[in-house]
Amino acid sequence: SNEPLVLGIETSCDETGVGIVRGHTLLADAVATSVDQHARFGGVVPEVASRAHLEAMVPTVQRALDDAGVTLDDVDAIAVTAGPGLAGALLVGVAAAKAYALAAGKPIYGVNHLSAHIAVDTLENGPIPAPALGLLVSGGHSSLLLVEDLAGRVVQLGATIDDAAGEAYDKVARLLGMPFPGGPPIDRAARDGDAGAITFPRGLTAHRDMEKHRYDFSFSGLKTAVARWVEARQRAGETVPVNDVAASFQEAVCDVLTRKAVAAAKDHGIDTILLGGGVAANTRLRSMAVERCEKAGIRVRVPRPGLCTDNGAMVAALGSHLVAANVEPSDLGIPADSALP
Ligand code: KG4
Ligand code: ZN
Repeated sequence: SNEPLVLGIETSCDETGVGIVRGHTLLADAVATSVDQHARFGGVVPEVASRAHLEAMVPTVQRALDDAGVTLDDVDAIAVTAGPGLAGALLVGVAAAKAYALAAGKPIYGVNHLSAHIAVDTLENGPIPAPALGLLVSGGHSSLLLVEDLAGRVVQLGATIDDAAGEAYDKVARLLGMPFPGGPPIDRAARDGDAGAITFPRGLTAHRDMEKHRYDFSFSGLKTAVARWVEARQRAGETVPVNDVAASFQEAVCDVLTRKAVAAAKDHGIDTILLGGGVAANTRLRSMAVERCEKAGIRVRVPRPGLCTDNGAMVAALGSHLVAANVEPSDLGIPADSALP
């Protein structure tokens, strides 16, 4: 095949991800994670993550090359997450990508982590129609994106004004005594709970807020409401119905996310919504998005759960798109930018 072979490196948080794609075809997706080293802190410790990336980088690149049955020489371009993310963690990936690019004489593409979360969908569902509406929900971000062109224009319509959706899952899980990261255990507990048991607040959905913050999110009030509710039960010496709390909290998050995504798509006359980011792995978010989009006549695309959380394949997928679009490679001097817009 003469489609470009692209190796992608992702180190913005606690996953060392190396993916290899040819065109839109995924050939390898090797991920090493330091999640266990952060668990007892209840969140990712930047210094620990950086050190883990440094140890995992070379073996993970080798594993991806082996899995794909290719060598570094075969690769046409190297893509790497340049930001946003943890500064020290990003530095390890960017430095490694530069070293591989320089040693093997390959062009390098510094890419945006959020665009990569959207681009990964091309590996399963093909080219993205323009424009599309991206709902990006992860541990660090909750954004509504107007995706006109992944190689160029991606406009942020709105974002969280406080906690990210994944952050809310992680914090609520912690107060319910569940392990970090909290998304998966809440997802599981919610299956045995009653989502209508407790009515938790839907941030920024009041009429007044919908004028000023139509495409923005707020999850910090929800987290506080859950904490108050749980504390009140504990003070009264009652057992906390953990599954009901998990399901009711999750319902509030997914209700707001899908409601605002559908509204944004309708406002802009867009007929495709793409879900991406770790929280897009959530069972309820996926089913609610399908239900509500179907009702609104909107197509919904969502990668399989394993490609929603951080990985190298998403970076390779975006890199492959840039190569195919004849975008100029980055300078070897590209910085890691923790606050990349
Ligand atoms: O995209 P990601 O892997 O890393 C960031 O870029 O932040 O997202 C991680 C976040 C965590 O907050 C985690 O709790 C959440 O995604 N998450 C989930 C699920 N799986 C991961 N949240 C809800 N339900 C899930 N099944
Ligand atoms: Zn991410």
